[in-house]
Amino acid sequence: MTAADSAPVAPIGVNHIVLNVRSIEESHQFWTEIVGLRFVGKFRQRPGRKMWFYSGMGPDGLHHHDLALVENPNLPVPPAGWQMWDSPMAINHIAIAYPSREAWLRQLAYLQGKGVKFDRRIDHGMTHSLYLHDPNGYGVELVYELPRDVWEGDIDAALNFAEVRPHEGAELLVDRTDVPVFGTQSRPSN
Ligand SMILES: [Fe+2]
Repeated sequence: MTAADSAPVAPIGVNHIVLNVRSIEESHQFWTEIVGLRFVGKFRQRPGRKMWFYSGMGPDGLHHHDLALVENPNLPVPPAGWQMWDSPMAINHIAIAYPSREAWLRQLAYLQGKGVKFDRRIDHGMTHSLYLHDPNGYGVELVYELPRDVWEGDIDAALNFAEVRPHEGAELLVDRTDVPVFGTQSRPSN
């Protein structure tokens, strides 16, 4: 028997998220053809109900699942647009990580080529991010992670850094690499 800790064990992070969706086929198309997650399985133990599973591709291969969808046709119709601060949806947004800056830019070009419309684009202190929304009104943030030494010196300052970038046209694919470093004196003035 193990002695009880006096404090909770720190988890390593979020393992997966499960979204209620109005149409599983509609959401399947979004999460596979737009976001690029792999479809890995269906739950078959509850006849008449639909729960499908999706994964990203990590350095060690597919995860068992990062996301699952549960179909519930009775969900309320979401608002037409998405906004960060006044969305009526219980889920504000979900961030999806791409493996590198180059991969993220390829993904942006791919989506732009498909005619996908974006809601906003922000350079944060720890990620560069493009926002859109899924068919259920949940925000989706597509990110690439900046190097740890950029943000770990002052995570709170990095979280408070946000520069709006163009999310349309050729400027969508112009990404800044002279990023500020937090927690040091070497922060650029611009
Ligand atoms: Fe976010």
